[in-house]
Order: sequence, then C-alpha cells, then structure tokens
Amino acid sequence: PIKLVTTVAELHAESARLLAAKQGVSQALVPTMGALHEGHAALARAAVAQNDVVVASIFVNPLQFGDAVDLDRYPRTLDADLALLDAEGVDLAFAPSVEEVYPGGEPLVRITSGRLGEKWEGASRPGHFDGALTVVAKLLHYGIPAAGLPGSGPAVADGAGTRLPAYRAYFGQKDAQQLALVRRMVADLNFPVEIVGVPTVRSAEGLALSSRNRFLSDDEREAALVLSRALRLLEARAAAREPLDLESAVDLVKSQPLVELDYFDVVDPATLEPLAENCRETPFRGEALALIAAKVGPVRLIDNAPLNS
Ligand code: PAJ
Repeated sequence: PIKLVTTVAELHAESARLLAAKQGVSQALVPTMGALHEGHAALARAAVAQNDVVVASIFVNPLQFGDAVDLDRYPRTLDADLALLDAEGVDLAFAPSVEEVYPGGEPLVRITSGRLGEKWEGASRPGHFDGALTVVAKLLHYGIPAAGLPGSGPAVADGAGTRLPAYRAYFGQKDAQQLALVRRMVADLNFPVEIVGVPTVRSAEGLALSSRNRFLSDDEREAALVLSRALRLLEARAAAREPLDLESAVDLVKSQPLVELDYFDVVDPATLEPLAENCRETPFRGEALALIAAKVGPVRLIDNAPLNS
C-alpha cells in the first residue's frame, strides 16, 4: 500500500529503502497540488508503468498563486488523493507542509521563467510561472533517487558495473505552457531528470479535466464544451492538411454567450510563439499547438491541442 511521508528526510529514507528492496533501476516523481482526478491518475499510471519506484507529491504551492483568496479556496482532499494514488500503484505520497518546503519563509533566490513565462497564461497571472518553476525545481531535487545523493551508499549494480538509477518526472500536456517551461528549465539549467509529457484526459463530452471544473454550474459546464469543440475543428483540419481557418474556430467560441474568450492561437510547440499567418491560410503541414483560454462563469479554463500532419 501507499505510504504517506511529510518530510524530505523521510522521503529520501523511504524511497532509498524501496529502491533497494525492489532492486529498482528507476524512480519517478509526479508533482501535483492534490484534488486529484483522472488526469492526475493518468500521470501516475504512466509513471508506475515505466518506473520501479514512484513518488507523487501533493503540495499547494503558495508561491504560484496570485491572491490569497484563490490559495485559500484551492480544494484540499488528502484522503481521496491517497486512495487514488494507491489504486494506481504509487509507492510514496510526499505531502510536505509549507514550512518544510519554505523553512525560512519565501525563498530569496528563485527561478525566472523569462519571456516564455510572460505570454499566454503568464500575461494574466504575473509571477505565476516563476512561482511554479521555483517549486518544481525544488520538487525535482527532492525526488532525485537517493542512491544518487551524496553519502547515500552505492548506486545500482548491474552486469556492466554501477550506475545511477534513471530519474523521470511526469507532467500533463493539459498545462502546455507549464510543460514547455519545465522542459526549458531542465534543459537550460541541466537538471538530471527526464521530463515525460502525458496527453490530456477529458470527460466523455470533451471537457479537459481540471480541479477547478467543480466550480462550474451545469449550464457553464455545458457551455465550456465549446473550447474542446473548437480545438477538435482545428485538429480535423490539420489532419486533413487543410488550411486551419482559425477565424471560424474563434467565431464558434464567440457564439457561446457564457464563454468569455481570452486567447486562442496556433503556436510553435516549444517556443509558444505564434506561427506565421500563412501557416493558417495555406494547407497545414508540420507540428503546431493550438492554445485556448477563456473565462466561464467564475472559472478560468485553459485547453490545447497538438496539431500534426
Ligand atoms: P496540478 O494542477 O495539480 O497538476 C498536476 C499535474 O497534473 C500537472 O502536470 C498537470 O498538467 C496534470 N494534469 C492536470 N489536469 C490534467 C488532465 N486533464 N490531463 C492530464 N494531465 C493533467 O500543475 C500543477 O499542479 C502545479 O503547477 C505543479 C506542477 C504541481 C507545481 O506546483
């Protein structure tokens, strides 16, 4: 069964014990803020399928919230979260206190997300991605297999000698900008971890699962489906190598009165820079990402679709 740990020392002791007991050669981290749903379950499932020891972290990170009200009302459902992670076969849940993660109060030195963190979601949530990347950096460090830490004993022995356990971390494609930023941070700053992206999990009707969906009324929930419908329109045109005709997809979203569109664009998947106009008017070829954000009632929703042809 899953074991709950709340300190970094316990996390290292328990993960090292499990790695040794299983003679494991790989360890995974699945960072979350709790209030877990089937989207998080998909991350856990992928991590369990590909690694010997799997740690999921549950930490509502104050640094990435713009206002205290939003932070306070973020849902906290630890018992249900543990049950979901246990059902997926996760070994350890790491649920530290704010004091454990930020012992001296808010950190002085932080990660800055640069230009990539200022556009799209960053434009309406200043500082959000700096706060998210700062905690992701810390979580990625906590999750390094203990056999790779100084003073923790031998690394994995195999026929060819000894080597460090593989280390992977799992993030959802749902938060495409966060995933792109984590990939850039890991590449730019040489974090010793492989980042794995997991496709977005949706409701049967198409709504991308989010812990904030619970704040939608029935009417708003129905109206919110226009986001995924508009994305599917673009996917179909890309697959058919037709012009994307973003304008008509935008019009579809705007026809829904309960939805207040923030942005909807087609971008380069790595830089998130808008693709040139002609890529929308000429037959689609290549790889792109459609990004959409809208306010529906009290909730800001984001969604995206990889476009390939
Ligand atoms: P949270 O919103 O809890 O999401 C945790 C992970 O689950 C993220 O990688 C997110 O992209 C993924 N996820 C959420 N909904 C998903 C869905 N419908 N399908 C697939 N994956 C989904 O993102 C965060 O927490 C925080 O910013 C965090 C990275 C933990 C740093 O605090």
